[in-house]
Amino acid sequence: MPDELINRATVSREQAIAPYSGFKVGAAIETVDGRVFTGCNIESASFGLTACAERVALWKAISEGARQFKRRAVVTNAKVPTPPCGACRQLLWEYCGDIAVLLHSLNGIERIFQMAELFPQPFDRHSIEQE
Ligand code: THU
Repeated sequence: MPDELINRATVSREQAIAPYSGFKVGAAIETVDGRVFTGCNIESASFGLTACAERVALWKAISEGARQFKRRAVVTNAKVPTPPCGACRQLLWEYCGDIAVLLHSLNGIERIFQMAELFPQPFDRHSIEQE
């Protein structure tokens, strides 16, 4: 039976607005106290303004006061489960740290990573500490 976090990301994916890529993405992020925030990708005709599902879910969570996270899930219909893009990895690392990342495709293939695997040698607040 799919994990409930994956179910929530799958439902959110249905809200995706992806007329340009046709690639719908759903994300869900779970806090340490059990709250879940979801997001989908939202594209713009000015392509660079497109918002990734992961960031939509993260901004929703942070704007509702969530600060400590346990897991996140992302759902697509890709042949191979889709890892987060580089920009999302940066932000997920900064705001969530080394949490588990569940990647799920509608074809049933699933993979689980830790953020530290997906984003080794990060640039973060420690990187800008000076002598
Ligand atoms: N997309 C996401 O939502 N998350 C990612 O991590 C990678 C890409 C979206 C952006 C765009 O709407 C579509 O997928 C194709 O790149």
